Amino acid sequence: PGLCTYDPGFTNTASCRSAVTFIDGEKGILEYRGYPIEQLAESSTFLEVAYLLIHGDLPDKAQYEQWVHDITYHTFVHENVKTFMQGFRYDGHPMGMLEASVAALSTFYPESSNITDADNRNMQIVRMIAKMPTLGAWAFRHAQGKPYVYPDNDLSYTENFLAMLFKMSEQKYEPDPRLAKALDVLFILHADHEQNCSANAVRSVGSSQVDPYSSVAAGIGALYGPLHGGANEAVLRMLRRIGSKENIPGFIEGVKNGDEKLMGFGHRVYKNYDPRAKIIKKTCDEVFEVTGVNPLLEIAQELEKIALEDDYFISRKLYPNVDFYSGLIYEALNFPPEMFTVLFAIGRTPGWLAQWLELVQDKDQKIARPKQIYTGDRGLEFTPREERW
Ligand code: CMC
Repeated sequence: PGLCTYDPGFTNTASCRSAVTFIDGEKGILEYRGYPIEQLAESSTFLEVAYLLIHGDLPDKAQYEQWVHDITYHTFVHENVKTFMQGFRYDGHPMGMLEASVAALSTFYPESSNITDADNRNMQIVRMIAKMPTLGAWAFRHAQGKPYVYPDNDLSYTENFLAMLFKMSEQKYEPDPRLAKALDVLFILHADHEQNCSANAVRSVGSSQVDPYSSVAAGIGALYGPLHGGANEAVLRMLRRIGSKENIPGFIEGVKNGDEKLMGFGHRVYKNYDPRAKIIKKTCDEVFEVTGVNPLLEIAQELEKIALEDDYFISRKLYPNVDFYSGLIYEALNFPPEMFTVLFAIGRTPGWLAQWLELVQDKDQKIARPKQIYTGDRGLEFTPREERW
């Protein structure tokens, strides 16, 4: 009693045992359920990766088809969710809208509070993966003042998402398959990342045994922050502010003086090149072949080159992370910056749910309740207001 370790930010404290994702930050390795991210990004699909994360193993043909069918079947949301979303301010940030509407889903599926029944848990997991693109796309259309587009279940997961975002007429929307594939790869890269801030939020809230919608909504809240998922949006704003290659040295000096951070650089775990950033760089080329090159790419590449040769970054082992190049692709796909983190959230949903599932099935897990080191006063004597004033 009374004995504890002071570890703000949990830099050295394992909060759980997990078999979902493995990272070796020194070597730049990332594996989902033992499979290297490079192989999954190259040859799998986002929904297959989602299955892998949730169920712990790759699906056979029948399992995969059933999984894709179930998720496709549940893409629609209750009409009252639409009414709920229409109540947001016209300029509400889509992440705020997503967070609130995911939390609201628990009221539409009250049975989700029964977290001990495996079938019931699976139902909510399928629903959440299925509905996240619908909610994300509607948040986007809301900010644009455009009518919400209902899901088209003839399309794939990613194509349907693009259709709900960008469809402008009654005609069927047919996205460029290369762009849909690129987005699918980006979703795979974001699908899980072990005990990051938002996974920890999901687990922490989930440890109270609340329903999974409330837990995932907490994860979305954590992801919203600029040091976590919000970094990709911040990278784009930073690149735009730098404006041209000539301004980079001055900007880097400012970073080294502590005026600001080089967004999209550095990671709590990776002390080497983030393996996801490498794959994203390749995806950049594939997307730009279709859309034309984003002019900010030149600034990003030069910034990376200068930073990787600079002692400040070398000595602190600061390398580009997943967010450094992803925003450039999102922009080329016509997403406004405030949608970038929504894309991250859609990709991360299976990971949050896999972490949540592991938590609620772990007999050793207790309600999250860290200790503190109290630094305030003790035993003061209270003086009533009339005597104090
Ligand atoms: N630019 C400049 N200096 C940096 C940066 C950066 N991006 N990141 C870390 N440092 C410095 C930091 O100031 C500190 O220097 P010193 O030792 O002189 O005080 C040193 O490097 C160690 O940094 P830290 O803040 O102790 O590292 P952390 O593990 O607590 O933070 C981080 C990790 C990702 C929050 C941080 O690197 C950062 O803020 N990066 C920019 C934001 C960003 O790109 N976030 C996306 C992370 S990846 C996707 C995700 O997980 O959501």
